[in-house]
Amino acid sequence: MRNLTEANLTDTVVAKIDAAADARFSAVATSLIRHLHAFVRETELTEEEWLAGIEFLTATGHKCDERRQEFILLSDTLGVSMLVDAINHRKLGGASETTVLGPFYLPDARDLPMGSNIAEGIAGTPAFFSGRVLDVGGAPIAGAVLDVWQVDGDGFYDVQRPGASYARGRFTTGADGRYDFRTVKPVSYSIPTDGPVGVMLRAMGRHPFRPAHVHLIVSAPGYGAVTTHLFVKGDPYLDTDAVFAVKESLIVDFVAHPAGRAPDGGTCAEPYCTASYDFRLVRAPT
Ligand code: BEZ
Ligand code: FE
Repeated sequence: MRNLTEANLTDTVVAKIDAAADARFSAVATSLIRHLHAFVRETELTEEEWLAGIEFLTATGHKCDERRQEFILLSDTLGVSMLVDAINHRKLGGASETTVLGPFYLPDARDLPMGSNIAEGIAGTPAFFSGRVLDVGGAPIAGAVLDVWQVDGDGFYDVQRPGASYARGRFTTGADGRYDFRTVKPVSYSIPTDGPVGVMLRAMGRHPFRPAHVHLIVSAPGYGAVTTHLFVKGDPYLDTDAVFAVKESLIVDFVAHPAGRAPDGGTCAEPYCTASYDFRLVRAPT
């Protein structure tokens, strides 16, 4: 294994993983090596460009901590996350459509009683959200969990504000499969551009905006979980989402109402909106 050349280097590296115990690992690693080498060959990468790539990935790693995930952001903005989503959800079987998780999900959000306000004290137009979690036959699913997170009315997640915690919560359905919670109407926002992904977007001449949305992971014992968003109908960025994540079936009308009697039986002192969506889950294979 000396004097390796352009012609035999790739096969030599691939042959090195022959002894890998895990067949799937071996297949993925082989493909990755072959595609990386093909990319270098196709572009005839210069040494300066190769080093710039290494520096870019290093900076991406350095930008990550427990509140910032620059690698997910990179995957999202390159369309890789939505490609993984598309491949893994080819057959919906009647389930609600999925979309990207994004970098701002925090596991272990608070469990809240139905009807709670997840946006107490934060800026934005009040919004009352409701609907049901159903199986594909239309029967309500009891014990379904909706894990919800979103931006405030200024377009920021709590994790983007030091020490803040807001606009997240987990709701569990009862026998009727119904859910409802109060929040603020999400607004379109810029994904973080103060890191390497921002540098990349500027170099590509791309804008960093996402259309307004609420994130949800809807799950229930015995059913496949759905990681998705609900987008606000009429948002100007629905057709140019920076992370390619919009699906028609996930666009919801946020209906405007004047101040007065609110859907939760109380009074809302300012104009508010209502939005409704029924989720469908498919039985998980046993
Ligand atoms: C989000 O919607 O939270 C998000 C998704 C992908 C990239 C950045 C943000
Ligand atoms: Fe988001």
